[in-house]
Amino acid sequence: MIEPQIETAQTIELISADVKSSGLDKMRVVGGARLKGDIPISGAKNAALKHMCAALLTDEPVQFTNMPNALVDVRTLAQVLNHLGMTVALRSDGVAILRAKEITSHIAPYDLVRKMRASVIVLGPLLARHGQAEVSLPGGCALGGRPVDLHIQGLKAMGAEIEIEGGYIKASAPKGLHGAEISFPKVSVGATENLMMAATLAKGDTILKNAAREPEIIDQGEALIKMGAKIEGLGTPEIRIQGVTSLNGAVHSVVPDRIETGTYMCAVGLCGGDVRLKNTRMDFLTALIGRLEEAGIEITQDGNDVCVHRNGSKLKGVDIMTEPYPGFPTDLQAQFMTMMTLCEGAGMITETIFENRFMHVPELVRMGADITVQGQSALVRGVPKLHGAEVMATDLRASVSLILAGLVADGETTINRIYHLDRGYENIVDKLGQVGAEIERISE
Ligand code: UD1
Repeated sequence: MIEPQIETAQTIELISADVKSSGLDKMRVVGGARLKGDIPISGAKNAALKHMCAALLTDEPVQFTNMPNALVDVRTLAQVLNHLGMTVALRSDGVAILRAKEITSHIAPYDLVRKMRASVIVLGPLLARHGQAEVSLPGGCALGGRPVDLHIQGLKAMGAEIEIEGGYIKASAPKGLHGAEISFPKVSVGATENLMMAATLAKGDTILKNAAREPEIIDQGEALIKMGAKIEGLGTPEIRIQGVTSLNGAVHSVVPDRIETGTYMCAVGLCGGDVRLKNTRMDFLTALIGRLEEAGIEITQDGNDVCVHRNGSKLKGVDIMTEPYPGFPTDLQAQFMTMMTLCEGAGMITETIFENRFMHVPELVRMGADITVQGQSALVRGVPKLHGAEVMATDLRASVSLILAGLVADGETTINRIYHLDRGYENIVDKLGQVGAEIERISE
């Protein structure tokens, strides 16, 4: 069933070498086109990264299809895992084959972790399989402090001894991990995933209460079940895991990227047009779709595709508030706000997940948007037009929101520091270009 031809570490070097990610690259967008045609949707970044970490839990090969292998985050994590002893083959056809036959190091060094905060997800599986893990603290990031206390407290409850020393989380479980009942004081995607993976190999039963319910966690749980894990309650606030002594290899297809899907829905909302989003689903975007429909956008599922349509009528002003799944995703807040800049009336955008997630606002204002921020909320009053400008990308979703603004602005928009986009959007220039947008990457 599984292709045992695991490539060597060299594969990663080869693939990483062709990442087009110069911090100096820019994106040039000329606004005005209505969007028409097909856009293929990639596998979910936020599921793919966790699947890769789950491969640490077994000495057998694990194979994933529909992987967004072109993403810089996927390649960075491949380097972290390779450092721990895993061989990783990332193929251009979206297949990834990973095998951690032996764990040769338990240290995820700062140099690699600092490039991607999600590296902290290796902590749980490494500890469960190897009994020892040292992971550099990811540090602050553009979205605020982003602590990892919930990951640490949960692992401690499962018997881990953990100290923070010299900027590293130093964890060991000399007697192995044991099951525990863990009630999260706050819903956390990463902590739920980290502890779910750790619990698969812990002795006894673990109950995760107030667990996150994101589709990517369900996808991860389903892959773990294929690997032999015993998990119940996926998609509910209570996940129960019965520990087993070992896991096996498996083959799994990664769930479509709902954030990429939602981003292109907002693009059509903003520019107008008719676009078929290929190989994705609308059922895991209920909160977004409800708001898009209120704003005047039509969305329908057609087999494996989702069709998005807006005619020339004005967008209506709509309020949103970000919340844990199934609420409105924080990762689509910036894109929705950009869409609201041209609405009739006004829309109120409230961010409850991250403390510093309005960094796109000053850039949108430079393009002519009328936005007032007060605390956690931004009041967006619709304007008749945005104007092209030179703007700066600050994080992944803020970057794409500026691309969307450029698609509808008068004249030319140049977006600087676009390396954030390479972390999370596969082939965005081609995908938008093939539906009629005028967009190009300028290498410095
Ligand atoms: C994941 C996603 C990210 C998304 C976020 C929320 C990945 C790689 N990233 O991030 O794109 O925006 O979910 O949907 O999947 N918190 C604590 N202590 C902790 C952990 C989290 O206080 O130990 C707080 C965070 O600061 C934040 C909130 O909990 O305010 C939610 O964060 P969390 O769900 O953990 O986000 P990530 O897993 O980091």
